[in-house]
Amino acid sequence: MKTDCKVKPEVLEKLTSCAKAIVLKRRYQMGYPFDQATNLNAFYHWLYETGLYNTTLISVGSPWKESWDMLDVDEFERDAVSFMAEAFGFPHDTYWGFVTNGGTDGNMHGIYFGRKALQGQMAAFKKNENTADSKKCSSDSNIAKDDKTIPPLLYVSAEAHYSVQKLGDVLNIETRVIRALPDGRMDTEDFRRQLDPGRPALIVIAVGGTFKGAIDDQKAISEILKEKPPIAVYRHLDIALFGGYLPFLDSQDAKSIINQLHQHFDSVAVSGHKFLAMNEPCGFFICRKGILEHLHNLTVPYLNCVMPTISCSRSGFDVLKLYWRIFTTGREGFREEAEHVLAMTHLLVSKLNERGIKAYANPWSNTVIFPRPSDEAVHRFCMACSGEFSHVVVMQYFDEPLIDELVEAIGKCQ
Ligand SMILES: Cc1ncc(COP(=O)(O)O)c(C=O)c1O
Repeated sequence: MKTDCKVKPEVLEKLTSCAKAIVLKRRYQMGYPFDQATNLNAFYHWLYETGLYNTTLISVGSPWKESWDMLDVDEFERDAVSFMAEAFGFPHDTYWGFVTNGGTDGNMHGIYFGRKALQGQMAAFKKNENTADSKKCSSDSNIAKDDKTIPPLLYVSAEAHYSVQKLGDVLNIETRVIRALPDGRMDTEDFRRQLDPGRPALIVIAVGGTFKGAIDDQKAISEILKEKPPIAVYRHLDIALFGGYLPFLDSQDAKSIINQLHQHFDSVAVSGHKFLAMNEPCGFFICRKGILEHLHNLTVPYLNCVMPTISCSRSGFDVLKLYWRIFTTGREGFREEAEHVLAMTHLLVSKLNERGIKAYANPWSNTVIFPRPSDEAVHRFCMACSGEFSHVVVMQYFDEPLIDELVEAIGKCQ
C-alpha cells in the first residue's frame, strides 16, 4: 500500500515560491478572459472532507449512457449540460452534450459532428433520390447523383479563434477563411463571394472573436444562405467566452444571439475556464440531439457502450466543479456577474476615453481595445497585443480601484 510520501524541502520551497508569485500576480493577467475570483474554497474543502480528492474520477463517453459499472458522475454532468442547454434556448429533451477538455475540444466536436451530419444528410438525399417518390426531394434540394461523395467546405472568419482553422487541417476539411471587417465581424460580402452552393457548408460562427470580441452577424449569414442555398448546411457557434454571460443578461437582444430557437444553430462550444470561472481548462459541447444519428455508432465492447465523443477519458472533477459552480450561483447569480462585467467594461472604456485614449469595446463584448501602450504596461498587466493594438478582458474580479490602476498605467505612456 502506498503512503503519502514526504515532500522534499527543496521541492516544497520551489513549488511554494512559484505558487506565491502566481497568487500575487493573478489579478494582473488581464489580456486573457480568466476570472481570478474563482471562489472554489468551499468546493475544495468539500473534496477534502469527503475523501474524493484522493480518488481517480473520470467521465467517459456520453453522460446519458446506461448500464455502466465504473465510478461516474454522469448524473451531475447531465444536470450541468441541461442547465446550459436550456440557457441557450434548446427546447427540453432536444439536445445532447458533455463536459469537454476546453474550447478547442468543443470546437473539434462541432466540426467533426458537423462533417458527419453533412455526410449523413447527403446519404439520406441520395437514398431518397433512388426511391420512387424521390422527385420532390431532389428537385427541392438540387442534389446531383453522387453528392454523398461531395466533401464539405468549412467557412470561418479570419478573426475567429485559430483552433478552427487548425481543426480544419487536422480533420482534413477544405477551409475557406472569410475576410473580417475592421471591427472584427465576418465580412458577409466576402462570405457571399466564397460560398459554394454546390458543396455542403460547415459554418463556424464566432460569437466573440478572440482579439476584438466581435459577434458575427447570424442574420446576414442566414440571408445569404437563403439566397444561395448550399446542398446542406451545419452551423457551429464558438461561444467560448460570451456563452458564459450572454444568456444571463437582462437584454432579450443579447439572449437571442445565442438562442437555438432563434438562430437555428446545430451545436455550440462554451469554455468553463472563462466566464464560468473554472480554474483549469474545461467546457461544454452541446448539439441538437438529432445530430447523434449521423455519427458512427461505434460500440466499444470492453466499455460496453456506444461512444459519440472523440476523447475517451475526461475529468470527473471538472464535472463536479462545474455542477458546483452552476448550482451554487444559479441564473440570478450569473445575471449579477454578467451585468457587473459589462458595467466595468463601460467604465474602463469611458475612463480611457476621458484621458483622450481611443478605447472601445464591441457590442456585448467585455474586451476593451486600445492603442498599444508602453512595454512596461503591456507586461505588467499581461495584455494581449496585435500590431498597433492591445486589449484587456474585463472579468468578474474587476472593480473601480483596479480599473483606475490600469487607466493610470495606460495613460502614462500615451
Ligand atoms: C473564441 C475562442 N474559441 C476557442 C478558444 C480555445 O479555447 P481553449 O484555449 O480552451 O482550447 C478560445 C481561447 O481563447 C477563444 O477565445
